[in-house]
Amino acid sequence: MKILLTGGKGQLGRDCFEVLQEKHEVIGTGLSDLDITDLRAVSEAVREHSPDFVLNCAAFTQVDACETEREAAFQVNAVGPGNLARAVEQSGSWLVHVSTDYVFDGHKAPPQPYLEDDATGPVSYYGRTKLAGELAIQNTTHRYMIVRTAWLYGRHGKNFLKTILRLALANPTKPIKVVHDQFGSLTWSYRLAQQLAALLDAGGQGIYHATAEGYCTWYEAAAYFLARLGVSSQVIPCTTAEYPTVAVRPINSILENRRLKEAGLNLMGHWQRDLEEFVTRHGDVLLREARAIV
Ligand SMILES: NC(=O)c1ccc[n+]([C@@H]2O[C@H](COP(=O)([O-])OP(=O)(O)OC[C@H]3O[C@@H](n4cnc5c(N)ncnc54)[C@H](OP(=O)(O)O)[C@@H]3O)[C@@H](O)[C@H]2O)c1
Repeated sequence: MKILLTGGKGQLGRDCFEVLQEKHEVIGTGLSDLDITDLRAVSEAVREHSPDFVLNCAAFTQVDACETEREAAFQVNAVGPGNLARAVEQSGSWLVHVSTDYVFDGHKAPPQPYLEDDATGPVSYYGRTKLAGELAIQNTTHRYMIVRTAWLYGRHGKNFLKTILRLALANPTKPIKVVHDQFGSLTWSYRLAQQLAALLDAGGQGIYHATAEGYCTWYEAAAYFLARLGVSSQVIPCTTAEYPTVAVRPINSILENRRLKEAGLNLMGHWQRDLEEFVTRHGDVLLREARAIV
């Protein structure tokens, strides 16, 4: 199959390129090659390459910055997916679009998970723009798969775990407060890339959840990661109220991969097992990179 990948230089995009090019022809594009907010450029790229699938990993992902850079966030997260949907509708290809747990309000009592057809109700501007992107796609084409994921970490780009590692190495005796009352599904971007590849191969339609099995808090994720790396640190749990951020985050955004399971396609592993494998594969380079910065 031929796949046009947008946002291919991001954390998930790079893992998707690596995984998908093993079996498919992948045209990887980053922002400098294809800006998804540019309808004409998007339409031309889809016409030129005539892919079977467009896989959109492009997004404005800085949750706090979305609160202040609202127009930019809306363009990338809502207008962009709408442009891609128009292009696939014209060309007859399919759109696979990555969305987020932050489309939910988080009011379910943990550990109750959110299912694909649960009511949405974003509590941040990021979540609102990502939901607007989902709706723009659904209102434009039926040839789509929207894959909601959560709490991503991976080898490439920036993520929460890399930040924690840098803080721990910078000052091992200084306490690092990490929120222990938000619950979510910590997900390895490489595993998600494998899941997306399986979904593309099998085909499907509609909304899917694709996150690691199990759930944790940010504190539990940070403590487990540093322990696996053998980095001693002073990670201490705190409440959301003690660690205020510009954007509000849902208290519970645990997702259940119900539709993947029903289709016999769920490849996602338990978050602790995936984090162990991530550390086994990339621990040395992560430590080297973090030490070079501090
Ligand atoms: N990260 C998470 O924790 C998380 C959680 C849930 C869902 N998701 C979703 O997962 C997907 C992938 O996230 P990620 O972690 O890989 O994010 P990422 O590392 O920030 O990658 C996003 C990529 O999109 C690019 N981009 C921004 N504006 C663009 C535009 N107008 N046209 C084309 N490309 C553009 C960015 O380029 P620049 O870097 O040059 O701006 C970046 O390379 C996103 O849809 C995100 O909403 C992420």
